[in-house]
Amino acid sequence: MGDLVVFCDRDSLETRYLTEFLSERRVPQNLFYLMNGADSFYSYRNAEVEQIPWRQEYDFFTRQALWTRGQRIGFVSLGCGNARPEQMLLRSLHRDGYDVAYFGVDSSDAMLTLAGETLENESFERSYVLADFGEPDFPSGLWRLVGGCDSRLFAMIGATFGNFDQTFIADLLGRLVPPNDYVYLDVVPMFQAEDQNGKLRARLSRVPENLSRFFDRLLGMLGLSLAQGRVVCTESGDGDLHTMRFTFHFEVESRITVSCLGTEADLLPGERIELLSIRAYDAESLKQFLEHRGFRFLDTYVPDIGHYSHLWQRLLFVKTA
Ligand SMILES: C[S@@+](CC[C@H](N)C(=O)[O-])C[C@H]1O[C@@H](n2cnc3c(N)ncnc32)[C@H](O)[C@@H]1O
Repeated sequence: MGDLVVFCDRDSLETRYLTEFLSERRVPQNLFYLMNGADSFYSYRNAEVEQIPWRQEYDFFTRQALWTRGQRIGFVSLGCGNARPEQMLLRSLHRDGYDVAYFGVDSSDAMLTLAGETLENESFERSYVLADFGEPDFPSGLWRLVGGCDSRLFAMIGATFGNFDQTFIADLLGRLVPPNDYVYLDVVPMFQAEDQNGKLRARLSRVPENLSRFFDRLLGMLGLSLAQGRVVCTESGDGDLHTMRFTFHFEVESRITVSCLGTEADLLPGERIELLSIRAYDAESLKQFLEHRGFRFLDTYVPDIGHYSHLWQRLLFVKTA
């Protein structure tokens, strides 16, 4: 493993997330990925990662002005997971003479361990940061690590951007990213044709069934038994930002007493615990949404994803103000 930088320890993060779960009846999405949640996630995700056409991604980046060989670029992966999605891109850039330093940020130390294993034999410089990027002091802490680079790219890969409240995450990027640095987002795009959107809608709304091991592990860890409740899905949007947003709740059917952090809490029939939101985007609307927060759209591409039925779209922005 490269350098591990710890902004806050795992136990205090876990305590905070569990407190939020109990007090707000909402599961911070970080809880999904702690401990064996990391392996459970990649038991599904690794098959997708193998489909990433990294040569196409390499071509996309090398045609941008930001990758000049004389410059030292910091590639900051926010929610880096096991780092496999970016591995081949970084390896190729480094091999071809680009000066790349990698910073993998994640609130799950299990994920950072996987990232360390993925990149173990790579020869570009790399650091791993155990941190919650939503913490108020995260930008200043990160800046101490990445400030020495000539330029930085802040990536959110694997639809991570779409799991957060959109105003929260866009404002956070607005605070984190200095002028002339870059943001690189990986999102699920909507289609133009309604029948294709119908299929996408059906697929997204079934995510808990399709990723049942991943969901059931979390529910089990929190004491939310499917014998006493059910997972329900609601579709909504994000106001001016045009999205197809699916939010999954655990709806209590018979009283559940959950115990964590030395306290017990009763969940009553009809109560709902928010589990996760996922989104598909109208790319034009997303560009406008970020434009209002000082990000100018630069370029985009939709990877050729082989036999997979849904698309990803990558969008690159530069911070202007
Ligand atoms: C959807 S996964 C994507 C992982 C990886 N980028 C990929 O494409 O496979 C989201 C990742 O973000 C991390 N994460 C979620 N919220 C976070 C936060 N507030 N601070 C740091 N990491 C976070 C999770 O632990 C998880 O590894």
